[in-house]
Amino acid sequence: MTRLSADIEARFHGLRRIIGNTPLLAVDYSFRGCRRRLFAKSENLNMTGSLKDRMALHILRRAYEKGAIQPGALIVEATSGNTGISFAAVGRALGHRVSIFMPDWMSREQVRLLRAFGAEIHPVSAGDGGSLGSIARAEELAASTPGAFLPRQFTNLDNCEAHEEQTGPEIHWQLGAHGLRPDAFVAGVGTGGTVMGVGRYLRAHHPDVTIHPLEPANSPMLSDSRRMGRHRIPGIAEEFIPPIVSLAELDDIVAVDDGDAILMAQKLARSVGLGVGISAGANFLGAVMLHDRLGDDGVVVTVFPDDNKKYLGTDLLHDEPVRPEHLTPYLTVHGFTSFNRACQVCDQSEDLVKMAGALSV
Ligand SMILES: Cc1ncc(COP(=O)(O)O)c(C=O)c1O
Repeated sequence: MTRLSADIEARFHGLRRIIGNTPLLAVDYSFRGCRRRLFAKSENLNMTGSLKDRMALHILRRAYEKGAIQPGALIVEATSGNTGISFAAVGRALGHRVSIFMPDWMSREQVRLLRAFGAEIHPVSAGDGGSLGSIARAEELAASTPGAFLPRQFTNLDNCEAHEEQTGPEIHWQLGAHGLRPDAFVAGVGTGGTVMGVGRYLRAHHPDVTIHPLEPANSPMLSDSRRMGRHRIPGIAEEFIPPIVSLAELDDIVAVDDGDAILMAQKLARSVGLGVGISAGANFLGAVMLHDRLGDDGVVVTVFPDDNKKYLGTDLLHDEPVRPEHLTPYLTVHGFTSFNRACQVCDQSEDLVKMAGALSV
């Protein structure tokens, strides 16, 4: 393992304090007359406002440890949005230039945020291959730039490891502090890093837990690639099954209609002030479906991957038509409380020990 310079180590230390170890929200709701509580990690509270900060920080940390990236090197990534913003910000914090290839249909807010962090942006049209074309173009630029680092979020196992070492343990400890054990975990699949990593940790500690990937009902790539279509849940459902996803390790796939996900995200903001993104609305509905199967006392956990700010120019703010198959109209959100950050996974105790040591000298 390569030893990190004191400067880079200090930068990572600063970042670790503002990425990860998020509160766990306990949201009370009623669905078709049954009152229940489900749990969601508040990932919008990360440095740039999404769960992708965890992956960016962990991949870059591991890359430094493996000697795969040098200080000041160019970081090149293909991304459909949040990942680019995370690498742009975390990369800059560590002193890197960042170049992002992304499909040209991403939200204006996302593109502007990337620009705000000083990233170079390369939009790729559907005609030039969209997501897959972005990956190919990122590989080409990295190959022609000496020392460039490609995180390769879709194939890099350090992506899953970020969630296996952090998000999963946090959920375990936060529930445990309240005498609870998870029965089911569900998360929309973008790269699949979240569902695979959290799933591996929770299964190792709770053998009976079920782990469910979620996809848009209108683009069910995971269950039937022939029915891939357009959908409005940014951040999930790529045009391919990401290599780090192993469906054999997971339980059944949950499908949510994108209009229903929009209605649910609107409801969370309007009824209890939780301004979350569309994929959070989808994850909430996925958790409600699993709750239905498990019964009112089931402990179902999900993530709210990001906040609503990047989607203010999208259908999230439109009047979404209600369709007969939608669940949101039968659902009331009563309120939420939040379970504190998990001390077992933060370095607070380490600092306290050091401080106590210094005082006793
Ligand atoms: C808004 C949003 N939700 C969900 C996900 C899915 O996370 P993962 O890539 O870990 O599967 C992403 C990934 O970019 C995202 O941006």
